[in-house]
Order: sequence, then C-alpha cells, then structure tokens
Amino acid sequence: MRKKRLCMVGAGRVGRLHTRNITERVGHRAEVAAIVDPDRRTAEELAGDYDVSVVCSSLDEALEGGDFDGVVITTPTFTHHPLAVRALDAGLHVHLEKPMAMNLRECAEIKASAERAGAALQVGFMRRFDHDFIQAAELLRGGAIGAPVIIKSLTHGPGLPPPWANDIRTSNGMLAEVNSHDLDTVGWFADSAPVDIHVRVANFKGAARGVSTEHFYDTMLATIAFESGALASIAGVCPADYGYDARVEVTCTGGMVQVGEAGPAGLVSISAGEARRCAPVFASWRDRFAEAYVREMAEFVAATDGAPVRVGAEDGTRAVALVLAGTLSMLEERTVSLTEVTSPAFVPSWQAAARSEA
Ligand SMILES: NC(=O)c1ccc[n+]([C@@H]2O[C@H](COP(=O)([O-])OP(=O)(O)OC[C@H]3O[C@@H](n4cnc5c(N)ncnc54)[C@H](O)[C@@H]3O)[C@@H](O)[C@H]2O)c1
Repeated sequence: MRKKRLCMVGAGRVGRLHTRNITERVGHRAEVAAIVDPDRRTAEELAGDYDVSVVCSSLDEALEGGDFDGVVITTPTFTHHPLAVRALDAGLHVHLEKPMAMNLRECAEIKASAERAGAALQVGFMRRFDHDFIQAAELLRGGAIGAPVIIKSLTHGPGLPPPWANDIRTSNGMLAEVNSHDLDTVGWFADSAPVDIHVRVANFKGAARGVSTEHFYDTMLATIAFESGALASIAGVCPADYGYDARVEVTCTGGMVQVGEAGPAGLVSISAGEARRCAPVFASWRDRFAEAYVREMAEFVAATDGAPVRVGAEDGTRAVALVLAGTLSMLEERTVSLTEVTSPAFVPSWQAAARSEA
C-alpha cells in the first residue's frame, strides 16, 4: 500500500517529536514528505536528521509544489487558524496541535472547513491516546464505580515554554499551553458540559527567570462546575523544575480511580536540584506520553484512510471555551459562566492588544 505523504508544519519541539515518531514508528504506513518552517535553519536541521528531502518556508509553498495526504500542524497557537483552514480548504486531512485555536470564532471556522472538505481533523490531546487515561475513561463510562463527583487533575511542566507561549495575547497563557490537557481530561471524564470556571494564579519564578510579560503566571488553580453536578479542580505549575507531572484522581459515588504517577516507578518524594530524589521522575511530556504520541500519529494516518477520529473539533472547542472563560476569570477575579464566552458578542479583549501591535 502506498505510504501516506504528510507535511510537517513547524519544526520546533513538537514538530521534531512527531517527525521522529512518524519516521521511526509509523514509517511502514506514512512518511514526512516535507517540513515547513519560516526558520530555515531549524527546518533544515530537522529534515537532515530524518532524511526529509523537501524543506519549505511556508505552507503555501509546500502546497504549490507537493502532493500530500495530510498536514501535521505544530506551530504557535496564534498561527493554528490560518494554517488549519488553508490545509483543510486544500482538501487535506489535518492533525492540529492543542490548543485548537485562540478563540471560538477560529474554532468554528476550522470545524466548518473540515466539514466542507470532508477531511479528518484530529486535535493534539495526546492523553486521549494514553493507555491509562483510556482505561480510566472506560471504567468511568461503564458505571461500575458510579458517577464522578470530584475530579482533581494536575499538570506541572518542567521548564519555561517558548516566549510566545507565556503571553496571554499570543497563546492565552499557561492555562492554554500547559493545562488545556487537563481542561480536556476533566470534560472527558465528567462526560458532562462545563457550566462555569474560577481561576486564581500566582507568579513565583517569573522575575528570577527574566519573564516580564504582563499577566505572566507560573502557578494556577482552577475550579470547574459541570451540569451533572460534578466538580473539578485543575492545578498548574510551570516551570516546576522537578520534572513533568500529570496525574488525575476521580472520586465517584461508588469508588475512585487514579491515573498517572510522577515517574515510571511511582512517587515517594521529589526535590529539585541536588537534594533528595527517592524515585526517578518523568523529565518531560515526551517521556510521560511517549507511546501516546506514537499512537496519536498512527491513528492520524489511519484517519487519512477514513478511520474515525478519537479527538476532534468538538473537544478542541470545549477546551478553548474553558481557556477563554478561565482567562477572563483570572483577569476579572470572578467566576465566569461558559455562556459568557460562547455568546457571539464575546471578544477576548486581551488578544486584541496583540493584534493592534502586529
Ligand atoms: N501535545 C503536546 O504535548 C504539546 C507539547 C508542547 C507544545 N504543544 C503545542 O504544539 C504547538 C507548538 O509548540 P512547540 O513547543 O513545538 O513550539 P516551538 O516554538 O518549539 O516550535 C514552533 C515552530 O513553529 C514555527 N512556525 C511559526 N510560524 C510558522 C508558520 N506559519 N508555518 C510553519 N512554521 C511556523 C516556528 O519557527 C517554530 O520552529 C503549540 O500549539 C503548543 O501548544 C503540544
């Protein structure tokens, strides 16, 4: 069978990870046929490492010269909308990294393009492809331990993400970049629509790390209420310095399920730097979800052949709605109802500042 030809858009951290996984683990079914990045050096370095012969500076350039089955978009969040719409309108299947987009108008336009093209749109929530998370979701759906009453989810990232990801104007900040995985997970596990969210933040390390971006925070606690009556809390810390930590605990009316450990051997206690470390921790999201990322790319390749998409526009949009309501909650220091941000009149004012400067 002919290998699927994929175009990798973005040669940064995630572009490199997906290129490696496609080449080394899904290579019997697909190939990265081109790498696109305006940063030529980064693109050429990645192409050189994985024998990709075509390097382009823009998606338009790649589409003019190439023939692809799908596009993998791994660029900064503020570029997701134009790139995804361009690829889908060209009739190509798209894997789009999380967060799906900057706002709900962009999400709706991406979804409409996918529907018009009849193309697959997979959103990069890799936890949906993780064995433990899938098992927990199945256990919860099965009803054997009753209905979820409280879901506690945390993601702590090891180091500062790229500068664009720290700025609420270009990424919606840490809630989007780090904790949108939790926003997706709690909705998935609750199996219910979110009603409102309250977010509180703190900044412990920004000044010492040279981050002076307005509204930067490195510590976040969100509470969410669902229509079912279930409650969720989400904790975020980034940079956490000790490692990458993603864990969830769901208490149900008849039992409890826990997903994740801080390290491959479980957790006793952890300190950063020279101090005690009783068990190894996951150094990065690449380690913790290594197999989930492979499965994510394998399923995307299958989706280019018509297989169902595990996580798409609907889940991606729900997480973006929570990001917007959560950011508004942080800025206005109040609980924000989801209906406020899903109203057609709602404009995320903090993003307009970035647009007027551009
Ligand atoms: N699923 C996950 O676990 C995970 C982890 C980290 C980041 N992400 C997401 O992946 C995306 C990229 O994050 P990253 O950490 O790899 O960022 P990065 O900054 O390391 O890399 C982004 C790359 O995109 C390139 N780029 C910018 N505009 C472009 C354009 N128009 N066309 C092509 N390339 C362009 C940049 O030059 C850069 O090389 C973000 O949406 C982020 O939220 C997902």
